Amino acid sequence: MAKIKILGNQQLRLSGTVKISGAKNAVLPAIAASLLTKEAIYLHNIPLVKDVFTILTLMRGLGAEYSLEKESLTIQTRSILSDEASYEHVRAMRASILVLGPLLARHGKAIVALPGGCAIGSRPIDLHIHGLEKMGASISLEHGYIHAHAKKLHGAEIEFEKKTVGGTENLVMAASLARGETILRNCSLEPEVVNLCQLLVKMGAKIEGIGEETMRIKGVDDLGGADHEIIPDRIEAGTFLVVGALNQGEITLEGVQPEHLTTVIEKLRFSGTEILADPQRDNVVKVKGSAEIKPQDVTTSPYPGFPTDMQAQFTVLMTQAEGTSIITETIFDRRFSHVNELLRLGANIEVFQDKAIVKGKTPLSGAEVIASDLRASASLVLAGLIASGETVINDVEHLDRGYEKIEEKLKSLGAQIERIKNEEIS
Ligand code: UD1
Repeated sequence: MAKIKILGNQQLRLSGTVKISGAKNAVLPAIAASLLTKEAIYLHNIPLVKDVFTILTLMRGLGAEYSLEKESLTIQTRSILSDEASYEHVRAMRASILVLGPLLARHGKAIVALPGGCAIGSRPIDLHIHGLEKMGASISLEHGYIHAHAKKLHGAEIEFEKKTVGGTENLVMAASLARGETILRNCSLEPEVVNLCQLLVKMGAKIEGIGEETMRIKGVDDLGGADHEIIPDRIEAGTFLVVGALNQGEITLEGVQPEHLTTVIEKLRFSGTEILADPQRDNVVKVKGSAEIKPQDVTTSPYPGFPTDMQAQFTVLMTQAEGTSIITETIFDRRFSHVNELLRLGANIEVFQDKAIVKGKTPLSGAEVIASDLRASASLVLAGLIASGETVINDVEHLDRGYEKIEEKLKSLGAQIERIKNEEIS
């Protein structure tokens, strides 16, 4: 397992420019959507992260052919050769479940491993399954695999009991090829869902209400090829905004859509961070931290609320605020695994059920820590940057799932960070 070593500095002074990559959570459903057609799909602004390679391997097993050049992907599934997403794939990446709806809609059959408990709490897929059943699928669970069949899915009226990003994506993809009209209520509003729907429309889907809680989808017989741009990764951008908030130098971020980060930017500004959009250039922002960070309470919620995927990083910022902050996690249970590691660095945080009480300001001092999930890993990198001395982060494979070349990007800003193999640790 690789490790990352950071030589931190309590007076962080990074400066320079970072380009934000395409959104991992937008590209995964877009790749899954390519299963809905025999024709080629061209996707641009692909982030070269591990999850993308995981889904591409899965897709190849299902019959897809692809070529990836720089940040552009051409993918085409002329015929479905297999309808199975194995446990190996689903275990490596839960979003593998996104092939369920497209396989069922085009091929009439799908066998997908049931995701197990996940490092950030229980993550059931009952809402995906109930929706597909309402559309006429018969679904059974055998030996840890979901077996789904439907000669032809039909339209249905489905209200999600709670907002689910993956559930909305799976059902909107399935409904695009179903017979008749599907009405989806209480849909997720995340920009990644919107980006997927825009791709589906380019492929010929008939969707009304994109970006709204109720979507109406009129199923069509066939979908075709399309050319599509993946939106920038708002979580990577948010992570670098927090780097900027912890930093006394000025960082420029390119490829940020600030309108996708309204709640995060608002909280950062309240904490004292200076964030300015570049008037000359679209999607460019400059960020600079304050010498006196103000505490902020944050409650995660579905978009446009504060994203759960930014909770761990914001917690690190609050360890440096002058006072107490309450961080409430409402999306996933057990999503505070980063807290124990931050305690090892000297943070003062207590967790009570869904709340983390962060008392600042505490100087952090470097130590060896372990990354337990993707965003927890990112938070440890941020903590390492502002901890005095050396921080070694173990199991950084989690980080590679969703951040493209994070250490290179940070190094270009002047951070002392490097990836090391076990034997190189002193
Ligand atoms: C997606 C994102 C993930 C983000 C999460 C919430 C991708 C690839 N991943 O995950 O980064 O943290 O949204 O913004 O886009 N739930 C059920 N039943 C279901 C489905 C979900 O109870 O059938 C619950 C989950 O346990 C969770 C909540 O709904 O508590 C939200 O989950 P969901 O929006 O589905 O998350 P993902 O799509 O897995």
